[in-house]
Amino acid sequence: MSRPPATGTDRTDRSLPPANLDPDRLPQHVALIMDGNGRWAESRGLPRMMGHRAGVEALKSTLRLCSDWGIQALTAYAFSTENWSRPGEEVNFLMTLFERVLQAELKALEAEQVRIRFLGDLEALPQKLQQLIAEATTSTASNTGIHFNVCTNYGGRRELVLAAQRLARRAAAGELDPDDIDENSIGAELFTAGEQDPDLLIRTSGEHRISNFLLWQLAYAEIHVTDVLWPDFNAMALKEALLDFQRRNRRFGGLDPISP
Ligand code: FPP
Repeated sequence: MSRPPATGTDRTDRSLPPANLDPDRLPQHVALIMDGNGRWAESRGLPRMMGHRAGVEALKSTLRLCSDWGIQALTAYAFSTENWSRPGEEVNFLMTLFERVLQAELKALEAEQVRIRFLGDLEALPQKLQQLIAEATTSTASNTGIHFNVCTNYGGRRELVLAAQRLARRAAAGELDPDDIDENSIGAELFTAGEQDPDLLIRTSGEHRISNFLLWQLAYAEIHVTDVLWPDFNAMALKEALLDFQRRNRRFGGLDPISP
């Protein structure tokens, strides 16, 4: 991602996890519901679209921080299957924004070894965006850095329906015994196949909902809700979320606490 010129202290702040975070107990995979772009803009007397633009900057800096601090995967909810019901002007703006950001940032993503994937029902997206997504996915596929998953036209229920259909087709064709279907076979049919489940879900703007996001994968995630509106989400807010995560006792349904 294109970085602003770094000053000495700036660069140090960005590269190292804050001293009071335990680098050995970071979540490996962080999921993000980036909410509050519209309210951020409206509170400044700006059109909602300006909130989405500012949201892109917050996402770029969060990706960089996660990568610098040693988090292995970041999965962000950029556009849900329900977001098509927004006014056409806003939907078009978002699609064009995704195209522009991909065009502008691809080289930097490659240089920073980010592996980008888009998760969702991509065939419904504009043709040009689909092409850019295919290019970005291919050209970063062998990168060794952070996995950056952008959920676009994504819905958790839709994902489970598609997985069920694929398994049912294989069973009907005699390729799969229904009794052999287990959690691994379902996980392997999801858009996130091959990715470890998120350890931490961060939702901004104070809403306590998961809004059809990663319904299967978030089964044991810790949830951190902050009142910060997404465009204002910064290093301090990320640090807060990670400290909150490190205070949790993860028991995965058992009795003994398992440290994050
Ligand atoms: C929710 O805020 C935000 C969105 C629906 C869009 C999120 C998209 C981005 C931040 C851009 C990401 C870009 C790329 C290329 C991945 P809202 O509009 O629901 O805010 P509100 O709840 O205040 O109305």
